[in-house]
Amino acid sequence: MSRQEIISNNPAAVIVLAAGAGTRMKSRTPKILHTIGGISMVGHAIAAAQGLNPDTLAVVVRHERDLVAAHIAALDEGARIVDQDEVPGTGRAVQQALEALDAQASSQPGEQPGAQTAVEGTVVVTYGDVPLLTTTLLAELVDTHNKDANAVTVLTAVLDDATGYGRILRDGTDGTVLGIREHKDATESEREIREINSGIYAFNAAVLREALKSVTTDNNQGEMYLTDVLSLARNSGGRVAAVSTTDRWQVEGANDRVQLAALGTEHNHRIVASWMRAGVSVIDPATTWIDSTVQLAEDVTILPGTQLHGKTTVARDAVVGPDSTLTDVQIGEGAEVTRTHGSGAIIGEGAHVGPFTYLRPGTVLGADGKIGAFYETKNVTIGRGSKLSHLGYAGDTEIGEDTNIGCGNITANFDGVNKHRTVIGSGVRTGSNTVFVAPVTVGDGAFTGAGAIVRKDVPAGALTLTVAPQRNLEGWTAANRPGSISAQAAENARASDDSAN
Ligand code: UD1
Ligand code: CA
Repeated sequence: MSRQEIISNNPAAVIVLAAGAGTRMKSRTPKILHTIGGISMVGHAIAAAQGLNPDTLAVVVRHERDLVAAHIAALDEGARIVDQDEVPGTGRAVQQALEALDAQASSQPGEQPGAQTAVEGTVVVTYGDVPLLTTTLLAELVDTHNKDANAVTVLTAVLDDATGYGRILRDGTDGTVLGIREHKDATESEREIREINSGIYAFNAAVLREALKSVTTDNNQGEMYLTDVLSLARNSGGRVAAVSTTDRWQVEGANDRVQLAALGTEHNHRIVASWMRAGVSVIDPATTWIDSTVQLAEDVTILPGTQLHGKTTVARDAVVGPDSTLTDVQIGEGAEVTRTHGSGAIIGEGAHVGPFTYLRPGTVLGADGKIGAFYETKNVTIGRGSKLSHLGYAGDTEIGEDTNIGCGNITANFDGVNKHRTVIGSGVRTGSNTVFVAPVTVGDGAFTGAGAIVRKDVPAGALTLTVAPQRNLEGWTAANRPGSISAQAAENARASDDSAN
């Protein structure tokens, strides 16, 4: 189905049900805020709904109302938050959403005050805890619903184990959908039915509004069942039909953390597979985790044990991994990032990072630059071709181009109260174990000797030496450590020198 067809079929409203408590998660975090692929479950539900381009998107909330409402507003500021009252059940949730949308429809600008303008056309209902549902499948449901002018179209799936789900009741001869029976209300023979209600539907708004008036809490759970709308709609002459999917993952909800992990794994398989089809080499899909929000270019290679999160982007021909965890990191064309833990960093084209490197936010590595083994960086801008190859820390620092920072260099940027900047020019060569005591500036083309402690600015082209001249106290070991292994070794060396002379 083309994008245009999806839009031309756009429903009047999508109602996402998200009022449930989710007690089986055993979590202080509301169930629908638990994440899969870097996005909350309700975030996935909203994204799938947004894809249908509905006139209104409503989310029904109750449990942890304020937290959930704030999260939803951050995802879609136009989303309508509807509060469910103490009457339990999916039927009540939808009824209250519809009432809220009707009230909104009749207060549109230009309307007569109090004019009766209710939502018309197609209303889609989905759940906030079914994260793998796609816009494509929803659009298929809406398309069938509209084309066949149904009163209700329910999305179903056939499961090996249907325990717990509402079952689809069909006419024995022609297979017409008669209604839905909840597991708890079902007879032994009804429980053998394997076609289940996903809880996702397209309704005719007027039929839905009317039928909900007759839905009661007279059942084994004392809830208003939305599922009762199907038989009610049928009894009043409406067409009730089903769209059945063979992709059970798209209708599966997460009730506990075992199901959450299973859905997360399946979601990741789908994301990784789609990147491989788009030209990314993933050596080991099972140990590669890619958030929905990550962007990868063609001919990127991802080595085993790599997790890419947030707004991470990887440009063409870059190689990432093995064993790297990167969040909001931009990797340039042809760069190599090996065994690295990083966040909020930008890595230039052709640059090298790792192995065993810790990139903290604000790290900007220029093209063809290097941050090597056991380096930690934070708020550092490193110019083209500059290298920090081994063992050190650089923070609040600016480094020019083609500079080589020696082994074990440290920027002492924190005096215990304030942070200070270190500025190092281009073409600089620093000796091993140089310490830059910030604030300090090192000019272009300067050198530092091994072990230099740079407390004052270094002019361009200067060599900085801060260590005391070396003194050798001859015969010290024999005088101060007589009879020791060291004294014996020194004596042996003196004897062999003597015999050589
Ligand atoms: C519901 C369906 C069942 C279907 C199953 C699919 C009914 C009566 N039953 O059962 O046929 O097979 O989903 O998963 O609809 N919710 C609210 N307010 C409420 C109750 C629920 O917003 O008062 C929300 C929940 O947050 C959840 C969704 O609706 O996202 C489903 O609720 P749940 O209690 O899991 O429904 P089931 O009993 O599993
Ligand atoms: Ca459920």
